[in-house]
Amino acid sequence: MATKVKTIRSAHSRPGEKVKVLITRDRIHRRILEIAKQIRQDFPDEPLLLVGVLKGAVFFLSDLARGIPGEVSLDFIAVSSYGKDTKTSGQVRLTKDLDASIEGRTVIVVEDILDTGMTLQYLLRILEQRKPKRLRVAVLLDKPERRIAAVQADYVGFSIPNEFVVGFGLDYAERYRNLQGVGVLSLKAHDKAGKSEA
Ligand code: IMP
Ligand code: MG
Repeated sequence: MATKVKTIRSAHSRPGEKVKVLITRDRIHRRILEIAKQIRQDFPDEPLLLVGVLKGAVFFLSDLARGIPGEVSLDFIAVSSYGKDTKTSGQVRLTKDLDASIEGRTVIVVEDILDTGMTLQYLLRILEQRKPKRLRVAVLLDKPERRIAAVQADYVGFSIPNEFVVGFGLDYAERYRNLQGVGVLSLKAHDKAGKSEA
């Protein structure tokens, strides 16, 4: 039987934009629960602080946090990376800092996607200086082919090919974050300009 490729049209897309489903909502939810369980197994007796990177990580973080039993707290940090097109430029800027100190705490940075690694490299450098007890990284998606900075995630939801993806928190020009699953966005050439916020 031929494989059916689902395209999301409807209210989400503008003319010239197409989204093809890559990972369904159900697969994402199942995988997040596995990661949540793994995290608690790795730190059985410790209060955990999940640090979500706004805005892309909020959906991942909210499912992850609810899947981890025991003591879990949340904080948020925001960065901006500038670039034309659907690529990041590597210039990263902190736009919102954490509310509280992380000194002596077990911190898990929760990010939507690890692409070039520039964003996480920057964040990890800042957070290391604040002397957490442990610092770990959980990402929903990993695009290993695109890596520039030597950064690795401790927990990875899915490794994906080198395509621009949207949904489940990931945006194109601030849109598509609310898609239930993750899909590959394709654009007609003249629609490609845009800024993407982390
Ligand atoms: P990095 O600094 O290149 O690793 O990219 C990190 C940020 O770029 C992510 O947190 C996303 O906000 C954004 N990004 C990278 N790849 C994608 C993608 O395929 N879709 C949407 N956003 C992306
Ligand atoms: Mg992000």
